Amino acid sequence: MTDDTTTNDLLNYAGKICVVTGAASGMGQAAARLLTGLGAEVIALDVRETPDPVAKFIRIDLADKDSIDAALAEVPQRVDRVFSCAGIAGTIYAGRTFSELDVLTINFIGARSLIEGLIPRLPRDGSIALIASTGGMRWQTRKNLHLDFARTDGFEAAQRWFGDHRDELEQTFTGLNFPYMMSKEALIVWMKYRAYTLSGQRIRLNAISPAATDTPMAEDFSRNANGLRGSHISEVGVASTPEQQARALIFLNSGLAGYVSGQDLQVDYAFTVKGLHEMAATEPVDAAR
Ligand SMILES: NC(=O)c1ccc[n+]([C@@H]2O[C@H](COP(=O)([O-])OP(=O)(O)OC[C@H]3O[C@@H](n4cnc5c(N)ncnc54)[C@H](O)[C@@H]3O)[C@@H](O)[C@H]2O)c1
Repeated sequence: MTDDTTTNDLLNYAGKICVVTGAASGMGQAAARLLTGLGAEVIALDVRETPDPVAKFIRIDLADKDSIDAALAEVPQRVDRVFSCAGIAGTIYAGRTFSELDVLTINFIGARSLIEGLIPRLPRDGSIALIASTGGMRWQTRKNLHLDFARTDGFEAAQRWFGDHRDELEQTFTGLNFPYMMSKEALIVWMKYRAYTLSGQRIRLNAISPAATDTPMAEDFSRNANGLRGSHISEVGVASTPEQQARALIFLNSGLAGYVSGQDLQVDYAFTVKGLHEMAATEPVDAAR
């Protein structure tokens, strides 16, 4: 199998054309900076202009199909790696209000459309890494609905599907910020579903699910949850930095992860295994054996 592991430079990003969405802030910005430092050619896509020097900046609004198509027309015909980082925290984000459909579209439907538009430009052994969230960790409880959503064909069909299933879906969520959680669960299930078909083309597709991360978005999560502060931090006691999340993305899109695909890497310092401890505290000892 010829992939990046045949060189001594295990990350091997020098000269690689890397599309990074959400490159103007937070984790996407951190990824773009690290990639530039590794010698990659960064094509930055964002609704806001990136403050850092990059090989090329392309404005895109992932809520808008025409904007996605226009951005795709400006992206080079060959792309080696895709980093899909853009997203919003819920119907409240960056001082603006969005519809539930906007949240679903920016975080999942639009992100998927852009990735699908880039897949034909990826070479054999190309790869894609996207950012989901620990907010999407309960995707298995709605697996069948999400599989149905994942199989929708294109931007408009996916938006219609959400409109048709919105009420049914909301009833299955108990937590606050339903549109955000729904969008991240959808992203994880689609990633897993699509990774299998992409394996036949030797293209890898993975995600990271960050726990609480110290970015400008962090405050918006409590605004979307009626002021309740997020609790997605393990006993480590501190939120992650955007660079820690970006490094995990860079790992997944490197030859170090050359046989890894369809995986949701929870970059959460053991936050999502908390449930096991709660179970161990309540289960009788014999039943735990
Ligand atoms: N910060 C956290 O605690 C946390 C936790 C888990 C997952 N996430 C996810 O991580 C990803 C990165 O978020 P972040 O924390 O770095 O936030 P951020 O707000 O710093 O960055 C998000 C970026 O997405 C861009 N963006 C927003 N709407 C867009 C649109 N319509 N079209 C194109 N670009 C758009 C923004 O301009 C910004 O540059 C998001 O997908 C988010 O859902 C964040």
